[in-house]
Amino acid sequence: MTHHPPGTPAAPPTAGVTATGHGTAPAANGIGLVYLATAVSALGGMLFGYDIGVISGAILFIKKAFSLSPGLEEIVVSSVLLGSLIGAAGGGVLADRLGRRRLLIVTAAVFGLGAIGAALAPGTASLIVARVVAGAAIGAASFVAPLYISELAPAAIRGKLVSINQVALTSGIVVSYLVDYAFAPSHAWRWMFALAVVPAAAFGIGLLFVPNSPRWLVSRGHAGRARAVLGRIRAADQVAGELADIEHSLAQQKPHWSELASPLLRPAMIVGVGLAIAQQVTGINTVIYYAPTIFKFAGLSSAPAAILASVGVGVVNVALTLVAMQLIDRIGRRPLLLGSLAGMALSLAVLGLAFSLPHVSGSLGLIAVVSLMAYVGSFAIGLGPVFWLLLSEIYPLRIRSRAMSIGTFANWAANLIVAISFLTLTQVLGKPATFWLYGAVSVAAWLFAFFLVPETRGAVLNRSRRTGGRGSRHGPCDDGTARLAA
Ligand code: BGC
Repeated sequence: MTHHPPGTPAAPPTAGVTATGHGTAPAANGIGLVYLATAVSALGGMLFGYDIGVISGAILFIKKAFSLSPGLEEIVVSSVLLGSLIGAAGGGVLADRLGRRRLLIVTAAVFGLGAIGAALAPGTASLIVARVVAGAAIGAASFVAPLYISELAPAAIRGKLVSINQVALTSGIVVSYLVDYAFAPSHAWRWMFALAVVPAAAFGIGLLFVPNSPRWLVSRGHAGRARAVLGRIRAADQVAGELADIEHSLAQQKPHWSELASPLLRPAMIVGVGLAIAQQVTGINTVIYYAPTIFKFAGLSSAPAAILASVGVGVVNVALTLVAMQLIDRIGRRPLLLGSLAGMALSLAVLGLAFSLPHVSGSLGLIAVVSLMAYVGSFAIGLGPVFWLLLSEIYPLRIRSRAMSIGTFANWAANLIVAISFLTLTQVLGKPATFWLYGAVSVAAWLFAFFLVPETRGAVLNRSRRTGGRGSRHGPCDDGTARLAA
């Protein structure tokens, strides 16, 4: 694998793909429109973060208002995850049929509907339905926003632009914590949900002013319109080459689900689904969903201290995602991913240790808090943004949205399993062993990434990768399929 000093612009690809001029350098003209489209679609990421974060504070009041049993409380909390499975499953075909941008407009409306539905819910059943509806929007937006951004982005800054979505997502989580905090004294949980209407409206309206993905346009037979879009977002001398590249990658048969199981695509499917599962089973959402509970385990029993610590977790998550965003096109996806998983494994080992020693409060409580922050920071600088980015990069265009939808479904399914098993695990295995278990899984994920995950930095998107992790094989692969050889 080739290495380039940080800051080297337009780095040559390390993914076995020959970069051509049109794919590597952001054009001065039109880049503003690409940034606008990125910012608008990242509102989808922000709504994703807000909607998963908001429930942590709201549930305290809903529980009382609707006299929820523990079982019903769990259903209310996890209904959003169920909805996201539906959105992830349905989004693949819809992203092809409607197009990335129009599907995002639909999700904006669904986000709004879910927010209003939850805010006005007269009872538990309607609240659960509203949360499933919001979840469907999250499931679709979680991968269509990165997909759309990656298809508009010039190769040299694609990592940075797609990571903006993860920055928005993590910011959405922090905003939801702060909104919960602000409305908590008045017990106004309905307002906590209702406020999501504001970014949902901005998301939907903003999408009316940005172009369709040129890649999607070509796939629907609108080469002329794709040329016009490329003319607005690339330098004039880049348009023809990029269009030819897109057309070449689509000059194959129509997409079909069965293709995803073909030997040619299997390695890419294994990487996508494997990373999707790894992103969740290494435990990040135990912290995102249960931070106050974990801090309570660690001896921070007062509510303000626990809330402050949770906001701290959220801020660390945003800050390190911002760092990842700056590094991802310079040093590449693989170093961030491997460093991230190593940091997660290490901090989980320390966290487990802190819980295994008696009298966890006091200085040991501090060790627990610090290792938890280190864990979240490690996730944020790699596995968080890199998973969604790679998912948008490793599949050939004509099958991309369907393959992404499967990876996203796996991600949300694993998310659900971790969310509903965490507290039980801490009871059955004990707290130290639970964190060590996530640590061991992080080590396994590191090995998976080391041997199987390709470097995609700078690669031209339509072409396929021929590399597998460590044993990268160089050379273009023009058959339009993602031959990820391990
Ligand atoms: C993950 C989410 C997680 C979030 C935390 C995302 O990349 O997919 O499950 O809650 O990061 O920042």
